[in-house]
Amino acid sequence: MMFDYESEKKNSEQKITQASDLGSLEAVRVEYLGRKGKVPALYTNLATLPQDRKPEEGKRINEFRNFVTRLIETKKKELVAQKREGSQKQLDVTIPGVPRPIGHKHVLTQTIEEICAIFEQLGFAVEEGPEIETEFNNFTALNIPLDHPSRDGFDTFYLKQKDPTDKNVNLLLRSHTSPTQIRIMEKHKPPLAVVVPGKVYRPDAVDASHSFMFHQVEGLLVDEDVKFSDLKGLLTVFLKRLFGESIKMRFRPHFFPFTEPSAEVDISCYICGGKGCSVCGRKGWLEIMGCGMVHPQVFKAVGYPKGKYTGLAFGLGVERMTMLKYGIHDIRLFFENDVRFLEQF
Ligand code: PHE
Repeated sequence: MMFDYESEKKNSEQKITQASDLGSLEAVRVEYLGRKGKVPALYTNLATLPQDRKPEEGKRINEFRNFVTRLIETKKKELVAQKREGSQKQLDVTIPGVPRPIGHKHVLTQTIEEICAIFEQLGFAVEEGPEIETEFNNFTALNIPLDHPSRDGFDTFYLKQKDPTDKNVNLLLRSHTSPTQIRIMEKHKPPLAVVVPGKVYRPDAVDASHSFMFHQVEGLLVDEDVKFSDLKGLLTVFLKRLFGESIKMRFRPHFFPFTEPSAEVDISCYICGGKGCSVCGRKGWLEIMGCGMVHPQVFKAVGYPKGKYTGLAFGLGVERMTMLKYGIHDIRLFFENDVRFLEQF
């Protein structure tokens, strides 16, 4: 067998140089150095040669084997380095990162902010009061005596611990935001105009329209000559800004112990325009808030001079407003923390 060492050197060198990855380089190695490859075949052949040719031929085979081995080793290092570099290239630190989903304001917070912003534009200040209240602020000062029947639906979560500053005072989770009226009037003299957003608690069983905790926004304006027409005008501007210019309103006489006269405010159903649909219960009207003129007994409780001031007050449920605004049918959705619901707003 004739083996052309010179051209085989060129051939093998070309193949090794052209190998573009470790797989094709390995194929070249097997072709030359593998068990059934060209180099072992040369050694097999060597055994058949006459004794005097063996040393010289053996030397040439060794030299060829070393030549191929060295080229393959060098190429292998090159390819490994290239591969490493390639995987580093995939980690391009200049590519913008995967954005983390960041949260946004809860739809109830959005409604509260929207409501407060409207009143701020009208010159009201935004105040907050504590969720743990005294029995006095929540009931007595608001003209709801201990034995008054209207206290039943309101009767709330009492705390075991009494007020540490006055052991005779019972503490409870406020059942409405109205006790903040008392706190504000005890601290400030009229004229004053505030809105008070916050959580309130009632011993209601949870269902699609009830929750033991919900949110209200309270409003209070006290000055020397505040009239019922001011209340009407104010709430008309407010509700039109919130629900649109085209809504109609009506004030229905109602009873609250801390306002006199008192009214409930309805707006024409903005879904059906007043014709009657499932959202308004076929009535065409949506009951939206309570309001009235501050009762003289409340002024008395906070120590304002008799007959000097008049005031208007109102209170609304944030969940209810939000449900009406967006057509949400179940109050529980607000508190279940299901992102699929929350991210729609
Ligand atoms: N506090 C009343 C309620 O929770 C609402 C209200 C506030 C009514 C102020 C009149 C004036 O139902």
